[in-house]
Amino acid sequence: MKREKYAFSTRAIQAGETVDTVTRALNTPIYQTSTFAFESAQEKESAVDEGLNWTPDTYFYSRTANPTTAALEKKLASLEGAEDAIVTASGMSACATALLSLLDAGDHLIASTDLFTITKTLLDDVFKAKGIEVTRIDTNDLAEVTEHIQANTKVIFVESLSNPFMNIADLSSLSKLAHEKGLYFVVDNTFLSPYLLRPLEFGADLVIHSATKYMAGHGDALAGVVAGDKKLIDQVRYYADNLGAPISPFNSWLILRGLRTLHLRMRMHSQNGQAVAEFLQSRPEVEFVLYPGLESYSQRDVARKFFRDENGGMISLRLHGGARAMEEFVANLELSAIAVSLGDVHSLVYPMPKRDNLIRLSIGCEDTDDLLSDFEQALDKISSK
Ligand SMILES: Cc1ncc(COP(=O)(O)O)c(C=O)c1O
Repeated sequence: MKREKYAFSTRAIQAGETVDTVTRALNTPIYQTSTFAFESAQEKESAVDEGLNWTPDTYFYSRTANPTTAALEKKLASLEGAEDAIVTASGMSACATALLSLLDAGDHLIASTDLFTITKTLLDDVFKAKGIEVTRIDTNDLAEVTEHIQANTKVIFVESLSNPFMNIADLSSLSKLAHEKGLYFVVDNTFLSPYLLRPLEFGADLVIHSATKYMAGHGDALAGVVAGDKKLIDQVRYYADNLGAPISPFNSWLILRGLRTLHLRMRMHSQNGQAVAEFLQSRPEVEFVLYPGLESYSQRDVARKFFRDENGGMISLRLHGGARAMEEFVANLELSAIAVSLGDVHSLVYPMPKRDNLIRLSIGCEDTDDLLSDFEQALDKISSK
């Protein structure tokens, strides 16, 4: 399948997958095997070269490469508009191996202030302990970023839409600056998915995802993705193999299945997200709502520059009435489970008392009116009003 020729939805369903040559199975089988048999000692020698000279399409051991995972990687490369992609066991292993492939001890990384909590731990604790310098700043302040670039700076790292404060990164300005200074620009695009935004089109060198989220879509598998030029992805593969970060073939198969409906789900997440954000904003109990589809969203122009007029399912908000109002609200919700994670067809709510009572909603694909009624009754029942 020539990826340039077909629209996103066609590629989500068909790219990367071919009819099985042995059985004619239409769907990619789960190659649930750790190892692959060689026909001869000579074949083993040329394929493996004692483990030092592997190529991704030579199957000999599933830590290094697996056909189910390879189909998924091809589909993802097509959806991201990338030359190549690698899939790993989780979003964190994708993030860690991608950044470690670019940074050595003594190098310096500039990253945003607002990031997923464990990414912050990775950078601020793990990387620093291993001798990688990290500066975390407001990466949309280009003057500040420029000021913090040092002789040993190698990478600028941002989330396209940040978790949980919903800041959109100005991708084209940051990639221009990074490349002028000879740095790599790496973007975690988990909150948006390639349906809404493809950071490589705006100059990113690598795009990362927690595929656990919108790509899997059903809250049933952990996975991570890194996509970009083959030369860079080969380096990430080396780190993923050495650090032992592979995904299981079964989880690759679940993500493959999830991706075939990504475009359908993202449209529904966006329709529901818009309706819920507008509804919440209209209510007196709500102090503020952060959602790129709202007129009140402070970076609306930046959002329109980078993605189409669909804004996904992630919303952050704060209620008047402090921790008590927040706790009552989340307890009153019938359709949103109190849970970590996001991007699931099932709506989720994540209250954050330690972050000034911010509430993160991951709006699912349930019926729009059912969701609105549920948020309405949950707000109506707050006793501290
Ligand atoms: C923006 C972002 N990046 C990375 C991750 C890590 O992904 P995983 O949980 O699949 O390791 C998460 C998880 O919530 C996330 O929200």
